Amino acid sequence: MAQHSHEPQLPYFDALLESFEEGDPTVAEAFGDHVHWGYWDAEPDPVPTPAEFAAAAERLSSEVWQAAEIHDGERVLDVGCGFGGTLASIDAHRSGMTLSGVNIDHRQLLRAGRMRVAAAGNTLDWTRADACALPFADASFDAVLAVECIFHFPDRGRFFAEAWRVLKRGGRLALSDFVPTRMLLPAVLAAEYWPGSRGFYGKVDMRCTADRYARLAADAGFLPVLDRDITRNTLPTYPFLRHLSPRLRRLRFSAVAETLFAESASRLGLLRYRILAFRKIGG
Ligand SMILES: C[S@@+](CC[C@H](N)C(=O)[O-])C[C@H]1O[C@@H](n2cnc3c(N)ncnc32)[C@H](O)[C@@H]1O
Repeated sequence: MAQHSHEPQLPYFDALLESFEEGDPTVAEAFGDHVHWGYWDAEPDPVPTPAEFAAAAERLSSEVWQAAEIHDGERVLDVGCGFGGTLASIDAHRSGMTLSGVNIDHRQLLRAGRMRVAAAGNTLDWTRADACALPFADASFDAVLAVECIFHFPDRGRFFAEAWRVLKRGGRLALSDFVPTRMLLPAVLAAEYWPGSRGFYGKVDMRCTADRYARLAADAGFLPVLDRDITRNTLPTYPFLRHLSPRLRRLRFSAVAETLFAESASRLGLLRYRILAFRKIGG
């Protein structure tokens, strides 16, 4: 595993790992495999259960890896892989796969390594590294994924350049992200300077608009092939988080404020949740 002198502060993962250690079955059921917003077909009534949340989370991962058009026999890199749920999902549906997970946080990789056993004919491996300095050879993967994590990376441009480098010619990059409309940008920038921010979710860069994504892709040598706005399918997550939050004992005021900001902006249509996919051209 590559060594890192510092890791980003991710208090929400501290809270989750603490809850797992305490043996909280509700938090483990909801977040044991995936740590993201989930994909809902309809608004459950009245508040989603942890099992419903886990199913929605599995669905979002599946929507992202399907956006990368992953086929049997391919090599896939999941960057910011969390507890390995996305690779486990691919493992369950594809064969002859080489599945590699990267994360900056060794604790999540330890859990992934303990939990995940590859299906016969597939392999799984876990590497501690920064998304912006991937320790892999050029042109070694068919697909690169980044499920709801790119906003934590030190620099989206560097990540795009690294994804392009490690992908084979024609390889696919698929990711999900919170994309602000231009109207929301001033509020996002103001929130960065608000002392209560960076509390629970750590460093979150939500400034990347759709126009900026188009420029990032062009600069790196990617062709945009998919842009799905699934904001509507993520809204039920907010009532679920409100319901579950008392169980996360490290929850702070900033967690409530940051989540409320994202919820209000999403419900007003100012913050969009998108699945984006790109194809490597040239190289
Ligand atoms: C919201 S979680 C998503 C986890 C996983 N993709 C999932 O869907 O369950 C964000 C992830 O990004 C990881 N991360 C944050 N900064 C990173 C970096 N610079 N390089 C690699 N991973 C990073 C975190 O450790 C965490 O696992």
